[in-house]
Amino acid sequence: MKTTDNTILITGGATGIGLELAKEFVAKNNTVIICGRREAKLSEAKKILPQVITYQCDISDIHQRRKLFEFCTQEHPDINILVNNAGIQREINFLNGEADYLSGDSEIAINFEACIHLISLFVPYFSKRSEAAIVNVTSGLGIVPLHITPVYCATKAGLHSFSVSLRSQLQNTSIKVFELIPPIVDTELDRGARDRRGQKDKGIKPEIVSKEALKGLSNDQLEMPVGIVKLLQIGSRIAPSLFLKIINKKVATP
Ligand SMILES: NC(=O)c1ccc[n+]([C@@H]2O[C@H](COP(=O)([O-])OP(=O)(O)OC[C@H]3O[C@@H](n4cnc5c(N)ncnc54)[C@H](OP(=O)(O)O)[C@@H]3O)[C@@H](O)[C@H]2O)c1
Repeated sequence: MKTTDNTILITGGATGIGLELAKEFVAKNNTVIICGRREAKLSEAKKILPQVITYQCDISDIHQRRKLFEFCTQEHPDINILVNNAGIQREINFLNGEADYLSGDSEIAINFEACIHLISLFVPYFSKRSEAAIVNVTSGLGIVPLHITPVYCATKAGLHSFSVSLRSQLQNTSIKVFELIPPIVDTELDRGARDRRGQKDKGIKPEIVSKEALKGLSNDQLEMPVGIVKLLQIGSRIAPSLFLKIINKKVATP
């Protein structure tokens, strides 16, 4: 996949991994659109990266997703890459029942449903382009789940499975389906909970993830495990319960 002269939508591109991806893509002469809910974060990103196009929206809302698609295809008809990066992570204890589960935004709506719906909007459009890509950002926690964030892990495992099916479905088209699988990354994702539980491992810098992603895209590496995720992929097949114990001890206990 060429990594220059594309037009790219990065959901959740105003912060963290999304912003670092935006910087890498802009540096390589791509047109980059980023979206997110917080106008202030989009403005901050625009100050750091004036070339970026910002669009405020909440991708958990089906109508806002359709408007986002219309904006991208009408205002930037050359669009040929969708990066499904926006995500949230919540600690949910099912012993606390429905109240805990429903006390925050829906990870299923943001991390899973939104990605699939955006893909359903963009795929017919992308199929007419000579080269296009979908990049789904999953997580090492989709391979080895963490008991304190059970829904988050399930959305990432689900998005992994969906990426495998979609890749096969689109194999005779111009659209490539990539999956970027980061380990723990030092971003604001669930930062409050991480600090509360005194998590020592702050994770790798988001710029390491974005650099690996650009390398993977240019090499047509459709599954892009980053850092320790390479070990997780192998280890979880050989000794699944051992890796489950290691990850839960490492992350969930201070
Ligand atoms: N950090 C990690 O350890 C880690 C590890 C593996 C995978 N990942 C994945 O990497 C991706 C990026 O996360 P990050 O670590 O870079 O964290 P982040 O800095 O919190 O980025 C998440 C972005 O998603 C946006 N977002 C969330 N809900 C949204 C919604 N409903 N509509 C539109 N935008 C929304 C947020 O902006 P607004 O709040 O302004 O909407 C934010 O810019 C996520 O999919 C995450 O699951 C992260």
